[in-house]
Amino acid sequence: MSEAVAAAWQVLEKLDKPTLKALFADPARVQAWSSRLDLPGGAIRFDWSKTHLDAAHGAAFVALADAVGFKARRGAMFAGEAINVTEGRAVEHTAQRGVGRDTSVEEATALHLRMKGLVEAIHAGVLGEVRHLIHIGIGGSALGPALALDALTRDGAKVDVHVVSNIDGCALEAACRACDPATTMIAVASKTFTTTETMTNAESALAWLREAGVADPYGRLVALTASPDKAVEWGVDETRVLPFPESVGGRYSLWSSIGFPVALALGWDDFAEFLDGAAAIDRHFFEAEGLDNLPLRAAFADLYYARLRHCQTRACFAYDERLRLLPSYLQQLEMESNGKSVKADGSPIDGPTAPITWGGVGTDAQHAVFQLLHQGSHMVPVDFIAAVIPGDSLDPAHHRNLLANCFAQGAALMAGKDSKDGARAYPGDRPSATILCEDLNPATLGALIAFHEHRTFANAVLMEINAFDQFGVELGKEIAKSILGGGVQFDASTEALLAEAGIK
Ligand code: F6P
Repeated sequence: MSEAVAAAWQVLEKLDKPTLKALFADPARVQAWSSRLDLPGGAIRFDWSKTHLDAAHGAAFVALADAVGFKARRGAMFAGEAINVTEGRAVEHTAQRGVGRDTSVEEATALHLRMKGLVEAIHAGVLGEVRHLIHIGIGGSALGPALALDALTRDGAKVDVHVVSNIDGCALEAACRACDPATTMIAVASKTFTTTETMTNAESALAWLREAGVADPYGRLVALTASPDKAVEWGVDETRVLPFPESVGGRYSLWSSIGFPVALALGWDDFAEFLDGAAAIDRHFFEAEGLDNLPLRAAFADLYYARLRHCQTRACFAYDERLRLLPSYLQQLEMESNGKSVKADGSPIDGPTAPITWGGVGTDAQHAVFQLLHQGSHMVPVDFIAAVIPGDSLDPAHHRNLLANCFAQGAALMAGKDSKDGARAYPGDRPSATILCEDLNPATLGALIAFHEHRTFANAVLMEINAFDQFGVELGKEIAKSILGGGVQFDASTEALLAEAGIK
């Protein structure tokens, strides 16, 4: 750790930790710590006032950002420098949204035009009747499409899409049962085009089409990949291979051709709005400084709780059924990016890194896990996410109740309640942040996701982590391969399990 970084942490560690109640004695508290961004799909309010950050913490975190060279790191990302140092790659998902190095934006625009052409050809019936798409991918090649489709196609879709990720055949079987093979296309989504789960499911999907009497199963394939040669070699016709650049990381790839199922289901105009919403956040993140930079401000709070209050988890509750998949999307984004123990230069990190991200949907979660949030022995910083305009057309009482519950939880966590009876006492002083969208639509969903991407990156920069590699997932994959390859002796427990399952 450099002297400047160590000094910034020393300042942070010595600061008083006022209670939320004390912080709210300041009448300007809410104004100072909440901001409203006007975005293409409507405004989003980011209220960080119910966190423990005060002006002194704000200033000290800004000093930390200066000490780690935040502005230079941010500039390097948008300039397309190879900031993913362990893999020697640039990090250019923002170029997919039109923000970044000119040549990368031009390349992304050309690739999007190619994707648009295929989407519109399918809609026009050029490839015959297409009523269903089975989108096969895993991790970043599935979680983003699944979230966007679930959030945005509840009122109907131009094509019925099923996302299949797990190698457990139950997943593909369920999708096949819901589709008519005569009118189904298969999208094989894989950055590397080598992932075992995806390639196994893709082979089985082809077999399903073949067994159903489809004359040319390969004619039903689309490939979404950064390895177009491998897709062609595997049998996908070149005209239906939609490439994306190597510099787009898997968990940041929803904006590239990995978003093909979203564009196919929604139509191109909506997909373009989705990109525009994200681009508005890119520009904000690139231009705003210090505490005015909302993803950076959120990262300050994340780090405050992880490092200075020793919180091992952070929770996100979407008070919107359409965002029920957001917590699992954020789990990959945050835990695969920042769940590391070494810095970008390979040296050990001096404190805890990414907390465990978890969450659920409100109000369901209130009746399941909120007991721990209110009275448990852990402090869990919570994000609440909601939209002012309802997604349903039922009696407005539904939505009023939903929002009342959302805001009530933040208020209750902060205020607590005294009682002589310990079991009925609430300690209070528990932090939360609220993200309130005017509406949930393609543009605001794009903005929400981009906000979290930049928040994750800002966290990484402050911790001096490379957020863009994921070597931690490799060892288990290698061992699974050795198990299937045979000839390797494992520990006694693993051997006994393999024997009992009949695998060895
Ligand atoms: O195993 C982790 C991972 O590499 C993720 O980072 C990635 O999103 C996922 O696997 C899928 O990889 P691919 O898109 O190459 O199939």
